[in-house]
Amino acid sequence: MATPASARTKIACYIKREKMVKICCIGAGYVGGPTMAVIALKCPSIEVVVVDISIARIAAWNSEQLPIYEPGLEDVVKQCRGRNLFFSTEVEKHISEADIIFVSVNTPTKTQGLGAGKAANLTYWESAARMIADVSKSDKIVVEKSTVPVKTAEAIEKILNHNSNGINFQILSNPEFLAEGTAIQDLFKPDRVLIGGRETPEGQKAIKALRDIYATWVPEDRIIATNLWSAELSKLAANAILAQRISSINAMSALCEATGADVTEVAYAVSKDSRIGPKFLNASVGFGGSCFQKDILNLVYICECNGLPEVANYWKQVIKINDYQKTRFVNRVVASMFNTVSGKKIAILGFAFKKDTGDTRETPAIDVCKGLLGDKANISIYDPQVTEEQIQRDLSMNKFDWDHPIHLQPMSPTAVKEVTVTWDAYQATNGAHGICILTEWDEFKALDYQKIYDNMQKPAFIYDGRNIMDVEKLRKIGFIVYSIGKPLDAWLKDMPAVA
Ligand SMILES: NC(=O)c1ccc[n+]([C@@H]2O[C@H](COP(=O)([O-])OP(=O)(O)OC[C@H]3O[C@@H](n4cnc5c(N)ncnc54)[C@H](O)[C@@H]3O)[C@@H](O)[C@H]2O)c1
Repeated sequence: MATPASARTKIACYIKREKMVKICCIGAGYVGGPTMAVIALKCPSIEVVVVDISIARIAAWNSEQLPIYEPGLEDVVKQCRGRNLFFSTEVEKHISEADIIFVSVNTPTKTQGLGAGKAANLTYWESAARMIADVSKSDKIVVEKSTVPVKTAEAIEKILNHNSNGINFQILSNPEFLAEGTAIQDLFKPDRVLIGGRETPEGQKAIKALRDIYATWVPEDRIIATNLWSAELSKLAANAILAQRISSINAMSALCEATGADVTEVAYAVSKDSRIGPKFLNASVGFGGSCFQKDILNLVYICECNGLPEVANYWKQVIKINDYQKTRFVNRVVASMFNTVSGKKIAILGFAFKKDTGDTRETPAIDVCKGLLGDKANISIYDPQVTEEQIQRDLSMNKFDWDHPIHLQPMSPTAVKEVTVTWDAYQATNGAHGICILTEWDEFKALDYQKIYDNMQKPAFIYDGRNIMDVEKLRKIGFIVYSIGKPLDAWLKDMPAVA
């Protein structure tokens, strides 16, 4: 798509440089789309073009129905699109014209060859870097936005500099810390912006150029400059530590169930310690999302490659507990229903990996549904933001295949016939034996559970995988309730599940 020359006017938010600035972002995904939209909003005189190899994705960014759901995103995009924010499939053209290139492409876990199941597959990154080298005719700052293994910048630098034709490339690492569901707020008010660069005068100049852009709306003391490797590792470390907190409280939830303690009370008491704090201490069916597992596996691989098996095993355990939690949940469901769900209708409320997003990548719902399907359940799913096509795709795809550009994802041609998807929670639960709440959507708290109970098979079960329900109220209606890490119903005590 052509961009008007008028958009490339004076750079108000980049005044410390005399040259006009044009940004190109490679990868119009969950990170590239929202981050670039916010830069365009905050810096109206910088031209920002987001490019992607997926024609469908770019078409969606240029339409009324954006390809991702994020509260506030539509508003930001509508304010800037066509003004100084553009979405295009003309990858080469916009790379060649840009001064600063953000790379925000997929970095899936390798499924074959060296490091399979752990190491990051840098195919898309490398092809983006080679494209930059091929088409560049002027000096450029190349910014790693994707989460990459430590020392990727060094590899990218080699690709660029060996193919540079005299052009100067400065590589920066600027990992993204936004959380899906609150991405726009996180981008408006980040806890910190981290910029890693070379400790040379040119590297420092590049850091300053990027810092000046963020400083338009981010307080200076929240913009941290480090060296490249520290920036790359900080992103992996942050995600590993966040995931570790979830696995820690989830491990406690199993112990709470065994002993009669209440995990919410334990978490509250623990969180009052100012050294610990309250965030990421909600027990649940497990963490999901595109990053946590992938980044920890990546970290594990790096530790192993650096001869640190003890450190690798420590982080591996965070993922093991997460898998254990999902298995434990499925076992509770099956065990409490007389040890079989064969032929029984189980309603799934919520498929996204968290509320306020339609993202289903690594959602625990996939493993829970697969576990129930393994016991021959019939599943009826309702999620306010996830389509039937996406759910069928998720349930028929191999692990890690989701993390490739959508048109390159291998797809099983057959839908899972034991799964139905509806746009109505009451329809999903009608005639069901049990309900599993797998995403903490607010609307699930406001459903008419008396009506739902009346239309279910008896005994009627609710398994709250997010601890959002008023358990006592549900028990009064007549439900048998399982809520993670909470004291068990007598029924569940009598039907122990072995995880
Ligand atoms: N999703 C998050 O919350 C989050 C947060 C922080 C960091 N990250 C990291 O950011 C990166 C991107 O994540 P995402 O969630 O936006 O992924 P995504 O799959 O939503 O988007 C990546 C996009 O890159 C495109 N692409 C791949 N190769 C390309 C190429 N050579 N040229 C042009 N386009 C290309 C794909 O078509 C896709 O649209 C990953 O490394 C991820 O780990 C993600």
